Parts: sequence; structure tokens; C-alpha cells
Amino acid sequence: MSDKKATFQIAGQDPIELPIHSGTQGPDCVDVTGLYKNAGLFTYDPGFMSTGSCDSSITYIDGDKGILQYRGYPIEQLAQNSSFLEVSYLLMHGELPTQEQLSHYQERIMHYTLMNESLLRFFEGFHHDAHPMAMMSGVVSSLSAFYHDRVDIQNPEHRELSALRLIAKMPTIAAVSYKHNTGLPILYPRNDLSFTGNFLRMMFGTPCEDYVVDPLAERALDLLFILHADHEQNASTSTVRLAGSSGANPFAVIGAGIASLWGPAHGGANEAVLHMLAEIGSVDNIDKYIAKAKDKNDPFRLMGFGHRVYKNYDPRAKIIRKVCHEVLEKLADKNNPLFELAMRLEEIATNDEYFVKRGLYPNVDFYSGIIYRALGIPESMFTVMFAIGRTAGWVSHWMEMLDDPKHRIGRPRQLYKGEKARDYVPMDKR
Ligand code: CMC
Repeated sequence: MSDKKATFQIAGQDPIELPIHSGTQGPDCVDVTGLYKNAGLFTYDPGFMSTGSCDSSITYIDGDKGILQYRGYPIEQLAQNSSFLEVSYLLMHGELPTQEQLSHYQERIMHYTLMNESLLRFFEGFHHDAHPMAMMSGVVSSLSAFYHDRVDIQNPEHRELSALRLIAKMPTIAAVSYKHNTGLPILYPRNDLSFTGNFLRMMFGTPCEDYVVDPLAERALDLLFILHADHEQNASTSTVRLAGSSGANPFAVIGAGIASLWGPAHGGANEAVLHMLAEIGSVDNIDKYIAKAKDKNDPFRLMGFGHRVYKNYDPRAKIIRKVCHEVLEKLADKNNPLFELAMRLEEIATNDEYFVKRGLYPNVDFYSGIIYRALGIPESMFTVMFAIGRTAGWVSHWMEMLDDPKHRIGRPRQLYKGEKARDYVPMDKR
């Protein structure tokens, strides 16, 4: 906290001093918590364009410079050197683990990969073509009906256990959703495999034969989990914090985060990108769709473009773009027409004044779908992949919030524009 202060004054009234807080990086914040008490005013900021909702030490983003750091480590270095499980440890605990800590953490996570058999039967209640995100948000919330033994959120050990259970069970729930959609038999987890290798086997393996994990697919997917693991106070993480601020059950809280992630403006964009590329169909149609995206009377937007925080190239998109080349090259999908179309679209849009002026660059979702597709993951599962990675961030924020002595129930105010008080009108007089 610094000694800097901002002065706020309504004409004709005494000025009010508002404290200014400085973080370790990034812009300062004006603290308006005392504004209502001292001036009788609320701040108004729909969409939280200028509002910070909490202190956090987990992730730092500089959207203008295209910087993303987890616990201070640049995403590029983590993408190059780390694994998803190591990154999830880092997000939760604040430091990179020693080998011993990582092995212990991995053992604990793998210990919790199984789902209660009764919970497995929940899937039978879903229609065969239920969207996997619908199943995932329902089933994750339902974990609260099974693991009520140690969910005292005031107890840090209980909190950590819930977090580990969530990270561990997400791939199992995701794979069972896929098997439900495809009518194939489920496979139970194999804890001698890596976190991501185990997921690939549960997704694509069958009981009829051994499944050999492809190291390239394993590395590419693990990298995508790393890149999606956290992104500070985005819509789903803020949902998790808000839902959790009331002291709600951790599994229900993450279920709420999953529901928020599903929207096409957030995690659902990766699925929407592939639908869009299929709709555009050919390089010849790009100009027509660019014109549609620029037309304010047309609801069409270039999916996978733009970001609330990044007004420069999304650093995650840069990493994914490179991996996309490698994956398509090695998985013999080099001439994938969707990838060619995506590259051409990116080239045209990033040189177009409309997009340049508004700082609209490809985001993480622009290329991730092409990699998922090359790995054989169907479109309906794309946002589920995002959710598996983001669970590490959600649980870290949930734990950080509960550890923060300043945390209170989240309760925004509103600018009321409805009717003033009026008398009830009986039915025969309306
Ligand atoms: N295509 C065309 N125009 C766009 C787009 C786009 N994808 N995104 C923003 N704009 C325009 C928008 O119309 C507005 O123009 P103007 O200033 O003339 O009114 C301007 O750019 C600013 O847009 P905004 O809607 O005020 O920006 P926002 O910060 O509220 O929205 C966004 C950010 C990500 C929701 C938006 O860019 C979008 O809808 N993108 C497409 C969906 C997408 O790819 N989402 C994934 C985000 S990254 C993954 C994640 O973290 O969830």
C-alpha cells in the first residue's frame, strides 16, 4: 500500500480523499470502498472496465505489451519447460515444486482420479447427444453430494483436498462425457500414466486393446492445459470468486465457473472458431466475412479475435500458432485446409485498419481448436479441454480468496432505472 491519494470532489461539497494502492506490477488502483459511506455515491462500471475486485498474487497480465506471467514466471518459459501438473502446483502454492514435492503432488492428484460409481450412473440420465459442457457443469456440481466429508472451507487442509479432487476428476468426467456421446465403453483411469496421457487413454482407448499414448499428442495437449490454466479475473474466475464468496460448497462453486466458461464470448469461442471457419469455407470468402465483422448492423464477429485485456497479440496465441505448425506437420495433417484458412484470415484481419485500430488480434482460442481437431478431439469437447486446464486457476483463486482476511461476500450495487413506487392495480383495472 502506498501513501498516494486521489481527491474526489462533487461541485459545492468538501473533497474526499481516496487511497491509491500500488501492486508489484501494473497500474495503481483507487480504493473506492469508503465512497458510499463518505459521499453517498456508488461507482458505476458495467462489465468491470475499470474495476479491480480483489488483491491477487497468482497471475499478472499486461495487455498492451502482451505479457502473461503465472506467479511471476513468463508463460513462454513455462510453456517451454514445465508440465501442466507442475504449473497447477505453482498456481496453487506460489512456488515451483522441488522434485520431491512434485512427485508427492502428482501421486496425490492421481490418487483422486476415480469417480464414485454412483456418480458415474448420473451420465445415464443425460440424453445421448447432451453437450459435454452441460454434463460437466452438472456432474462437477454434483460432486458436492458425494464429498461432504471434508468441505470445511475454513480449514486449509480441507480446501486443498477439494482442490486436488477437482483437478484430478476433471479429465475423468470429461472422458466419460465423450464416451457417453459416442456410446463407447468408459475406461477407468490408469495412474501410472501422466495426467495428460491418462486423459488421452480414457478419451480414445477402448477395453479391447492397449492404448499407446502418442508423446506428441500428450505434449501438445499438456501445453494447451498450461496455456489455459489461469488468466486472472476473467468471467469464469470472477464467477468462481463470487459464488465462493458466500461460503458455498467448492464443487458447486467450480460448477458455476464451468457454466460461465461455456459462453461463446469466453471459453466457448474455441468451438465457435471452427464453426466460423467451416462457415467461411474458402479463402475466397474471407473478404465477405471481414466486411460482416466490421458491419455494426451485423451481429457476426470474428471468433478468436479480440480480448478484453490484450490489445496486442495474445502471448498464448503466439505459442499455440507455433505448436499448431508442429502438430499438423507431424500428425500428417500439413495441408489441413482449416489451418490454411485460419492463417490467411489472420493475415488479412491483422492488416485491416478496423482490427488494428481496435487492437483486435488473434486470441488463445483462434488456433487451439485446430490443434484439438488434429488430435481427434471433437468440437463439442473443445471448451471442456479449456475447463480441465482452467480448473487449476479456479481452485487457486478460490483458495486465495478464502485465505484473504479482507474477503467479504461479493455484492455489487446497481443504478436503478425501473418504476418508482406505485400502487398495485387489481386485475379488472389493467
Ligand atoms: N470481431 C469484430 N469486431 C470486434 C470483435 C471481433 N471479434 N471483438 C471486438 N470487436 C469490436 C467491437 O465491435 C467494438 O467496436 P466499436 O469500438 O466500434 O464499438 C470494439 O471492437 C471493442 O469491442 P468490445 O466488445 O467493447 O470489447 P470487449 O472487451 O467487451 O470484448 C471480447 C472482448 C473477447 C468478448 C470480444 O473481442 C469478442 O467477442 N471476441 C470474439 C469472441 C472470442 O474470441 N472470445 C474469446 C476470448 S479469449 C479466451 C478467453 O479468455 O475466454
